[in-house]
Amino acid sequence: MSTPFNFRPELRAPGASEAAGATFRPAALLAELPEGTLLRVTFGDLDILLAHTDRGIVAIDDRCPHMSAPLSIGRLDGCVVDCPLHDGRFDLATGEAVQMPNTGGLDADGAYHPVWTPAGKEPKPDVPGRKADARRLTRVKRLRYYPVRISGSTIEVAVPS
Ligand code: FES
Repeated sequence: MSTPFNFRPELRAPGASEAAGATFRPAALLAELPEGTLLRVTFGDLDILLAHTDRGIVAIDDRCPHMSAPLSIGRLDGCVVDCPLHDGRFDLATGEAVQMPNTGGLDADGAYHPVWTPAGKEPKPDVPGRKADARRLTRVKRLRYYPVRISGSTIEVAVPS
C-alpha cells in the first residue's frame, strides 16, 4: 500500500509542520522502497527512516527512542520495527513501544521495566553502579513523525527548515 498513513497528530516531530516552516522535500523514489522495507534518508544532519509498512509509508527519526541506534538496519514486520541494539520493538502505527529494550528502563509514561533476557540468550549480569543507574533512568519515548506525501513517483517528507 504505497500511500502515507495518518500518524497521531500529537506525535509530530518538532518543527515538522508547514506552519513551523517545514517544507516537503524529495526523499526517495517509490521504487526504492518496496513494501516491507526500510530506508535511511538524510537532510543535513537529520537522518530520517522511511518505512513501507503494511499500513502505508511513514517517516520517523532514524534513531531508536531508547539509545538512538539506527532503526533503518532493524527489521520490519508488518507495522512493527525492531531495533538492532537492545531488541526494543516499536509499532509504527501507534508510536508506542510493543517490547521494551532488554536493558529495561522507563517507558514513555514513566513506568519502570526491569532488565530481561531474550529467549535462548544467557542473562547478562546487571552490575549495580552508574551504568546500571543510567539504564534504569533511560526513558523510551514514543516515536516522532514527519508528514509524508507522494508526488508522482517520489516520496516527499516535510523537513524542518
Ligand atoms: S537503542 Fe534501540 S533498543 Fe536500545
